[in-house]
Amino acid sequence: MNVDRRGFLAGAATAAGLATVATAADPAWAEPAPVPTVGKTPLPDSNNLRVLITGDAGTGARPQWIVADAMREMHAREPFSLALGLGDNVYEQGPWADDDAQFQAKFEDPNHGLDFPWLMVQGNHDNSSLLPGDGGWLLRGDHEVAYHARSPRWFMPSRYYSVRLPQEQPLVEFFVLDLNPIAAYLPPLFAPYWAADGQFMSEQAAWLDRAIAESPAKWKIACTHHPYLNNGPHGNAGEYEGLAIEPVNGRFVKDFFEAHVLGRCQFLLSGHDHSLQVLDPNTPSKGTRQIISGAAAKSVHGEPSASGSRTPNSALYQNFDDLGFMVLDLTAASADLGVYTVDLSNGAPTNTFQRRLA
Ligand SMILES: [Fe+2]
Repeated sequence: MNVDRRGFLAGAATAAGLATVATAADPAWAEPAPVPTVGKTPLPDSNNLRVLITGDAGTGARPQWIVADAMREMHAREPFSLALGLGDNVYEQGPWADDDAQFQAKFEDPNHGLDFPWLMVQGNHDNSSLLPGDGGWLLRGDHEVAYHARSPRWFMPSRYYSVRLPQEQPLVEFFVLDLNPIAAYLPPLFAPYWAADGQFMSEQAAWLDRAIAESPAKWKIACTHHPYLNNGPHGNAGEYEGLAIEPVNGRFVKDFFEAHVLGRCQFLLSGHDHSLQVLDPNTPSKGTRQIISGAAAKSVHGEPSASGSRTPNSALYQNFDDLGFMVLDLTAASADLGVYTVDLSNGAPTNTFQRRLA
């Protein structure tokens, strides 16, 4: 967010009533749709997958293009199989229509030549109401679901969904989640459908429990916009923005991760903070490793950390200054993660972290 976060949140509680108007129930997207493949860029059919991990990319501005140039250069040498777009796909307020020109300017054009499936995640900016990033107009995000039918590369068949790769005898299953209803700065306090214990989140949780339990994939990877652990300015779930105000501190997000994700997936990939972090699991993580890749167009450089005097999470790597992206190489036997930063002055990517994580 570009506004002062604490000042903004101080007014959020009184403004929440307005969000009631903006977040009417839309059960049309309550159940995840099967992933349509007609007219879409083919999903990879390989047991060696090279996954490009980007987040918070959709500005359409020069830094996004420079980072995408570095991705293109790498793709030409070692082709990616697919990409993850971890939310905030259309800055600053999200799309205004299914055919909003912003999709072209902030996704299609900057990513030209990166012609593989992009599994897209809903972010808070994609669901803006009164202020950019407030997450208070959840129906706005449905335009990004509708855009699935308009773009061969943009995959978002519903607000939450999963993709198995290869589709037969999968090596990996990506569980793409939408936690925006319980993470919004303008929470839908009077819209029961979107409430933490409402229909949307309950159905998503029930689906996720079942989908993970039934998954035959070796690698199970949860993809969200909002992180569980985070050493950057937004802070950990349950402590978002360094505030104790529920629910905007992400208390329900924390609960959701702990009840439905942690200990069930090897990796949790998130954006939201404009940084690159490879964090170690803590005790509640139950072995699930949090990775944050939200620096595809912006850096948190200069923003104060919300963690204050709190002990930061243990990290294998963290970078709050550079733009960049990550690459996850998956085989039946290994998961290798590389972090690449991009020098905006010359566009050169640097492999600043490389590790076999599993
Ligand atoms: Fe965000």
